[in-house]
Amino acid sequence: MGKLAFPYPLPMNQPLKDLLRTSDLSKSDCELIIQTALEYANNPLRDKHELANRTVAIYMTKQSTRTRLASETAVAHLGGSPIFLRENDLQIGRGETISDTARIISGFCSALIVRTYQQAEVDELGKYSSIPVINALTNDDHPTQVLADWVTIREVFGTDISGRKFVYLGDGNNVANAWLLMGAIMGANVVTATPPGKFAIAQSVIEKANSIAKKSGAKIETLNDPELAAKDASVLYTDVWMSMGDAESDRNEKMKALSVFSVTEKLMKSAAPDAIFMHCLPAHRGEEVTESVIDGKQSVIWRQAFHRRTTIQALLYHLTRGELAGN
Ligand code: CP
Ligand code: NVA
Repeated sequence: MGKLAFPYPLPMNQPLKDLLRTSDLSKSDCELIIQTALEYANNPLRDKHELANRTVAIYMTKQSTRTRLASETAVAHLGGSPIFLRENDLQIGRGETISDTARIISGFCSALIVRTYQQAEVDELGKYSSIPVINALTNDDHPTQVLADWVTIREVFGTDISGRKFVYLGDGNNVANAWLLMGAIMGANVVTATPPGKFAIAQSVIEKANSIAKKSGAKIETLNDPELAAKDASVLYTDVWMSMGDAESDRNEKMKALSVFSVTEKLMKSAAPDAIFMHCLPAHRGEEVTESVIDGKQSVIWRQAFHRRTTIQALLYHLTRGELAGN
Protein backbone atom coordinates (compact mmCIF):
# COMPACT_ATOMS: atom_id res chain seq x y z
CA MET A 1 0.00 0.00 0.00
CA GLY A 2 2.88 2.35 0.84
CA LYS A 3 3.97 2.69 -2.79
CA LEU A 4 0.41 3.10 -4.03
CA ALA A 5 -0.57 5.74 -1.49
CA PHE A 6 -1.71 9.08 -2.76
CA PRO A 7 1.31 11.39 -2.65
CA TYR A 8 0.33 13.44 0.40
CA PRO A 9 2.87 15.95 1.61
CA LEU A 10 4.51 14.58 4.75
CA PRO A 11 2.64 15.50 7.94
CA MET A 12 4.24 18.54 9.49
CA ASN A 13 5.47 18.26 13.04
CA GLN A 14 5.86 21.93 13.80
CA PRO A 15 4.30 23.07 17.07
CA LEU A 16 1.67 25.11 15.26
CA LYS A 17 0.52 23.42 12.02
CA ASP A 18 -2.66 25.47 11.55
CA LEU A 19 -4.17 28.80 12.50
CA LEU A 20 -7.62 27.54 13.52
CA ARG A 21 -8.34 30.19 16.14
CA THR A 22 -6.84 33.44 17.39
CA SER A 23 -5.90 31.90 20.73
CA ASP A 24 -3.59 29.43 18.92
CA LEU A 25 -1.05 32.23 18.50
CA SER A 26 1.69 33.10 20.95
CA LYS A 27 2.93 36.64 21.40
CA SER A 28 6.15 35.77 19.56
CA ASP A 29 4.14 34.29 16.66
CA CYS A 30 2.21 37.56 16.43
CA GLU A 31 5.42 39.59 16.53
CA LEU A 32 6.96 37.46 13.75
CA ILE A 33 3.85 37.82 11.58
CA ILE A 34 3.66 41.57 12.23
CA GLN A 35 7.34 42.05 11.29
CA THR A 36 7.03 40.02 8.10
CA ALA A 37 3.76 41.73 7.18
CA LEU A 38 5.40 45.14 7.59
CA GLU A 39 8.16 44.00 5.23
CA TYR A 40 5.60 42.72 2.73
CA ALA A 41 3.89 46.12 2.88
CA ASN A 42 6.98 47.72 1.31
CA ASN A 43 8.31 44.74 -0.58
CA PRO A 44 5.41 42.51 -1.64
CA LEU A 45 7.63 40.28 -3.81
CA ARG A 46 10.37 39.62 -1.21
CA ASP A 47 9.59 35.88 -1.30
CA LYS A 48 8.25 35.67 -4.81
CA HIS A 49 9.49 32.11 -5.38
CA GLU A 50 8.43 30.70 -2.01
CA LEU A 51 5.36 28.88 -3.32
CA ALA A 52 6.53 28.59 -6.95
CA ASN A 53 4.68 25.82 -8.81
CA ARG A 54 2.52 25.19 -5.75
CA THR A 55 -1.16 25.79 -5.05
CA VAL A 56 -3.19 27.06 -2.11
CA ALA A 57 -6.87 26.11 -1.78
CA ILE A 58 -9.28 28.82 -0.65
CA TYR A 59 -12.58 27.27 0.38
CA MET A 60 -15.46 29.57 1.30
CA THR A 61 -19.10 28.90 2.14
CA LYS A 62 -19.76 32.56 3.03
CA GLN A 63 -19.28 35.73 1.03
CA SER A 64 -16.02 37.66 1.09
CA THR A 65 -14.54 40.70 -0.61
CA ARG A 66 -11.35 41.51 1.31
CA THR A 67 -10.32 38.08 2.54
CA ARG A 68 -10.67 36.45 -0.85
CA LEU A 69 -8.85 39.24 -2.70
CA ALA A 70 -6.15 39.40 -0.02
CA SER A 71 -5.65 35.62 0.01
CA GLU A 72 -5.46 35.22 -3.76
CA THR A 73 -3.08 38.19 -4.03
CA ALA A 74 -0.92 36.89 -1.15
CA VAL A 75 -0.54 33.50 -2.85
CA ALA A 76 0.37 35.18 -6.16
CA HIS A 77 2.99 37.36 -4.44
CA LEU A 78 4.58 34.18 -3.03
CA GLY A 79 4.75 32.71 -6.52
CA GLY A 80 1.92 30.21 -6.11
CA SER A 81 -1.52 29.77 -7.63
CA PRO A 82 -4.72 30.04 -5.60
CA ILE A 83 -7.56 27.59 -6.24
CA PHE A 84 -10.84 29.14 -5.15
CA LEU A 85 -13.50 26.62 -4.16
CA ARG A 86 -17.13 26.97 -3.18
CA GLU A 87 -19.12 24.32 -1.35
CA ASN A 88 -21.08 23.44 -4.46
CA ASP A 89 -17.94 23.14 -6.61
CA LEU A 90 -16.77 20.35 -4.36
CA GLN A 91 -18.25 16.93 -3.69
CA ILE A 92 -18.56 18.15 -0.11
CA GLY A 93 -21.73 19.82 -1.39
CA ARG A 94 -23.04 16.32 -2.22
CA GLY A 95 -22.10 14.77 1.09
CA GLU A 96 -18.42 13.80 0.77
CA THR A 97 -16.94 13.95 4.25
CA ILE A 98 -14.82 16.79 5.55
CA SER A 99 -12.07 14.34 6.46
CA ASP A 100 -11.88 12.83 2.95
CA THR A 101 -11.93 16.33 1.45
CA ALA A 102 -9.11 17.41 3.78
CA ARG A 103 -6.96 14.46 2.72
CA ILE A 104 -7.51 15.13 -0.97
CA ILE A 105 -6.76 18.87 -0.68
CA SER A 106 -3.60 17.94 1.25
CA GLY A 107 -2.53 15.78 -1.70
CA PHE A 108 -2.49 18.70 -4.08
CA CYS A 109 -2.12 21.96 -2.21
CA SER A 110 0.41 23.53 0.16
CA ALA A 111 -2.15 25.22 2.43
CA LEU A 112 -5.90 25.58 2.86
CA ILE A 113 -7.60 28.86 3.70
CA VAL A 114 -11.18 28.33 4.84
CA ARG A 115 -14.17 30.55 5.64
CA THR A 116 -17.32 28.89 6.92
CA TYR A 117 -20.02 28.91 9.62
CA GLN A 118 -19.08 26.33 12.22
CA GLN A 119 -15.72 26.43 13.99
CA ALA A 120 -15.94 22.62 14.31
CA GLU A 121 -15.73 22.30 10.52
CA VAL A 122 -12.47 24.27 10.43
CA ASP A 123 -11.13 22.22 13.35
CA GLU A 124 -11.94 19.00 11.48
CA LEU A 125 -10.26 20.25 8.31
CA GLY A 126 -7.19 21.01 10.42
CA LYS A 127 -7.25 17.59 12.03
CA TYR A 128 -7.39 15.64 8.77
CA SER A 129 -5.16 17.88 6.63
CA SER A 130 -1.42 17.36 6.54
CA ILE A 131 -1.01 20.94 5.29
CA PRO A 132 -1.56 24.20 7.21
CA VAL A 133 -5.21 25.23 7.54
CA ILE A 134 -5.99 28.92 8.11
CA ASN A 135 -9.30 30.12 9.55
CA ALA A 136 -10.50 32.95 7.33
CA LEU A 137 -13.60 33.58 9.52
CA THR A 138 -16.10 31.40 11.32
CA ASN A 139 -19.13 32.31 13.43
CA ASP A 140 -16.76 32.36 16.41
CA ASP A 141 -13.49 33.87 15.28
CA HIS A 142 -11.59 35.93 12.67
CA PRO A 143 -7.86 35.55 13.37
CA THR A 144 -6.52 36.88 10.06
CA GLN A 145 -8.52 40.07 10.57
CA VAL A 146 -7.12 40.89 14.00
CA LEU A 147 -3.58 40.22 12.78
CA ALA A 148 -4.13 42.89 10.10
CA ASP A 149 -5.62 45.17 12.77
CA TRP A 150 -2.55 44.83 14.96
CA VAL A 151 -0.17 45.53 12.09
CA THR A 152 -2.15 48.73 11.55
CA ILE A 153 -2.01 49.52 15.28
CA ARG A 154 1.77 48.95 15.24
CA GLU A 155 2.16 51.40 12.35
CA VAL A 156 0.13 54.07 14.14
CA PHE A 157 1.24 53.70 17.78
CA GLY A 158 4.55 51.80 17.61
CA THR A 159 5.55 49.13 20.10
CA ASP A 160 4.87 51.04 23.33
CA ILE A 161 1.16 50.57 24.03
CA SER A 162 1.31 51.17 27.76
CA GLY A 163 -1.43 53.48 28.98
CA ARG A 164 -3.44 52.91 25.81
CA LYS A 165 -6.95 51.50 25.72
CA PHE A 166 -8.14 49.36 22.77
CA VAL A 167 -11.93 49.40 22.60
CA TYR A 168 -14.44 47.39 20.59
CA LEU A 169 -18.07 48.56 20.62
CA GLY A 170 -21.12 46.68 19.37
CA ASP A 171 -22.19 43.12 18.75
CA GLY A 172 -20.45 40.34 20.72
CA ASN A 173 -19.64 38.50 17.49
CA ASN A 174 -16.68 36.70 15.87
CA VAL A 175 -14.68 39.93 15.43
CA ALA A 176 -15.34 40.97 19.04
CA ASN A 177 -14.09 37.56 20.21
CA ALA A 178 -10.96 37.81 18.09
CA TRP A 179 -10.34 41.41 19.22
CA LEU A 180 -10.50 40.43 22.89
CA LEU A 181 -8.25 37.38 22.43
CA MET A 182 -5.69 39.17 20.28
CA GLY A 183 -5.54 42.10 22.72
CA ALA A 184 -4.97 39.59 25.51
CA ILE A 185 -2.11 37.95 23.61
CA MET A 186 -0.54 41.36 22.87
CA GLY A 187 -0.64 42.35 26.55
CA ALA A 188 -2.97 45.28 25.87
CA ASN A 189 -5.66 47.01 27.90
CA VAL A 190 -8.45 45.63 25.77
CA VAL A 191 -12.05 46.63 26.32
CA THR A 192 -15.35 45.52 24.81
CA ALA A 193 -18.69 47.26 25.19
CA THR A 194 -21.65 45.11 24.10
CA PRO A 195 -25.24 44.85 25.24
CA PRO A 196 -25.73 42.44 28.11
CA GLY A 197 -27.41 39.08 27.45
CA LYS A 198 -28.07 37.64 24.02
CA PHE A 199 -25.64 39.87 22.08
CA ALA A 200 -22.82 39.85 24.63
CA ILE A 201 -19.47 38.08 24.20
CA ALA A 202 -19.65 34.40 25.17
CA GLN A 203 -18.45 33.67 28.70
CA SER A 204 -16.05 30.99 27.41
CA VAL A 205 -14.26 33.61 25.28
CA ILE A 206 -13.97 36.02 28.23
CA GLU A 207 -12.52 33.21 30.35
CA LYS A 208 -10.02 32.33 27.63
CA ALA A 209 -8.98 35.98 27.27
CA ASN A 210 -8.55 36.26 31.04
CA SER A 211 -6.40 33.16 31.18
CA ILE A 212 -4.16 34.49 28.39
CA ALA A 213 -4.05 37.88 30.16
CA LYS A 214 -2.69 36.27 33.32
CA LYS A 215 0.45 35.32 31.42
CA SER A 216 0.74 38.34 29.11
CA GLY A 217 -0.09 41.08 31.63
CA ALA A 218 -3.05 42.28 29.55
CA LYS A 219 -6.01 43.98 31.18
CA ILE A 220 -9.40 42.70 30.01
CA GLU A 221 -12.58 44.70 30.55
CA THR A 222 -15.98 43.59 29.25
CA LEU A 223 -18.47 46.43 29.73
CA ASN A 224 -22.01 47.30 28.69
CA ASP A 225 -21.57 51.08 28.72
CA PRO A 226 -20.27 52.55 25.43
CA GLU A 227 -19.44 55.97 26.91
CA LEU A 228 -17.42 54.53 29.77
CA ALA A 229 -15.60 52.24 27.34
CA ALA A 230 -14.80 54.97 24.81
CA LYS A 231 -13.46 57.52 27.29
CA ASP A 232 -9.76 58.28 26.61
CA ALA A 233 -9.48 55.26 24.29
CA SER A 234 -6.74 55.04 21.66
CA VAL A 235 -8.82 52.85 19.35
CA LEU A 236 -12.56 52.69 18.79
CA TYR A 237 -13.37 49.58 16.75
CA THR A 238 -16.72 48.35 15.53
CA ASP A 239 -18.28 45.79 13.21
CA VAL A 240 -21.64 45.19 11.54
CA TRP A 241 -24.62 44.47 13.74
CA MET A 242 -25.90 41.64 11.55
CA SER A 243 -23.19 39.11 10.71
CA MET A 244 -23.29 36.46 8.00
CA GLY A 245 -25.43 33.63 9.32
CA ASP A 246 -27.22 35.70 12.00
CA ALA A 247 -30.93 34.90 12.31
CA GLU A 248 -33.07 37.45 10.45
CA SER A 249 -35.67 36.95 13.16
CA ASP A 250 -33.29 38.68 15.60
CA ARG A 251 -32.81 41.77 13.43
CA ASN A 252 -35.24 44.17 15.13
CA GLU A 253 -34.24 43.14 18.64
CA LYS A 254 -30.58 43.42 17.71
CA MET A 255 -30.86 46.84 16.08
CA LYS A 256 -32.64 48.15 19.17
CA ALA A 257 -30.17 46.65 21.65
CA LEU A 258 -27.18 47.91 19.67
CA SER A 259 -28.36 51.40 18.74
CA VAL A 260 -26.54 53.07 21.69
CA PHE A 261 -23.25 51.43 20.61
CA SER A 262 -23.06 53.31 17.33
CA VAL A 263 -19.69 55.06 16.94
CA THR A 264 -20.64 58.72 16.58
CA GLU A 265 -18.58 61.91 16.47
CA LYS A 266 -19.53 62.53 20.09
CA LEU A 267 -18.12 59.16 21.14
CA MET A 268 -15.01 59.74 19.02
CA LYS A 269 -14.47 63.13 20.72
CA SER A 270 -14.51 61.46 24.15
CA ALA A 271 -11.63 59.20 23.10
CA ALA A 272 -7.97 60.26 23.32
CA PRO A 273 -6.93 63.17 21.04
CA ASP A 274 -4.80 60.82 18.90
CA ALA A 275 -7.45 58.07 18.78
CA ILE A 276 -8.12 56.12 15.59
CA PHE A 277 -11.33 54.54 14.31
CA MET A 278 -11.14 50.95 13.06
CA HIS A 279 -13.62 48.66 11.27
CA CYS A 280 -12.99 45.29 9.65
CA LEU A 281 -15.53 46.10 6.88
CA PRO A 282 -18.00 45.69 5.26
CA ALA A 283 -19.64 48.65 7.01
CA HIS A 284 -23.18 49.90 7.34
CA ARG A 285 -22.93 53.67 7.57
CA GLY A 286 -25.69 55.03 9.79
CA GLU A 287 -25.86 51.83 11.85
CA GLU A 288 -22.73 50.79 13.76
CA VAL A 289 -20.86 53.96 12.70
CA THR A 290 -21.75 57.37 11.32
CA GLU A 291 -20.53 58.40 7.89
CA SER A 292 -18.61 61.32 9.40
CA VAL A 293 -16.55 58.97 11.61
CA ILE A 294 -15.82 56.16 9.16
CA ASP A 295 -14.95 58.60 6.36
CA GLY A 296 -13.32 61.08 8.72
CA LYS A 297 -9.68 61.93 9.50
CA GLN A 298 -9.29 59.47 12.38
CA SER A 299 -10.42 56.47 10.37
CA VAL A 300 -7.74 53.93 9.32
CA ILE A 301 -10.09 51.47 7.58
CA TRP A 302 -8.28 51.45 4.23
CA ARG A 303 -4.92 50.69 5.85
CA GLN A 304 -6.54 47.85 7.82
CA ALA A 305 -7.97 46.42 4.59
CA PHE A 306 -4.55 46.78 2.89
CA HIS A 307 -2.94 44.74 5.67
CA ARG A 308 -5.28 41.80 5.09
CA ARG A 309 -2.95 40.86 2.22
CA THR A 310 0.33 41.49 4.04
CA THR A 311 -0.73 39.41 7.06
CA ILE A 312 -2.18 36.49 5.11
CA GLN A 313 1.01 36.48 3.02
CA ALA A 314 3.12 36.45 6.21
CA LEU A 315 1.00 33.68 7.71
CA LEU A 316 1.31 31.53 4.60
CA TYR A 317 5.06 32.09 4.54
CA HIS A 318 5.67 31.16 8.18
CA LEU A 319 3.11 28.35 8.46
CA THR A 320 4.30 26.53 5.33
CA ARG A 321 7.87 26.76 6.64
CA GLY A 322 6.82 25.45 10.06
CA GLU A 323 8.03 28.58 11.83
CA LEU A 324 5.18 29.32 14.23
CA ALA A 325 5.40 28.02 17.77
CA GLY A 326 1.83 28.24 19.05
CA ASN A 327 1.25 28.50 22.75
N1 CP B 1 -13.12 41.96 6.84
C1 CP B 1 -13.44 40.91 6.09
O1 CP B 1 -13.22 39.73 6.45
O2 CP B 1 -13.99 41.24 4.89
P1 CP B 1 -14.62 40.24 3.84
O3 CP B 1 -15.84 39.62 4.48
O4 CP B 1 -14.97 41.10 2.66
O5 CP B 1 -13.62 39.18 3.49
N1 NVA C 1 -18.97 39.89 11.86
C1 NVA C 1 -18.95 39.94 10.41
C2 NVA C 1 -17.55 40.14 9.93
C3 NVA C 1 -17.39 40.23 8.45
C4 NVA C 1 -15.97 40.39 8.04
C5 NVA C 1 -19.54 38.66 9.85
O1 NVA C 1 -19.22 37.58 10.36
O2 NVA C 1 -20.34 38.74 8.92
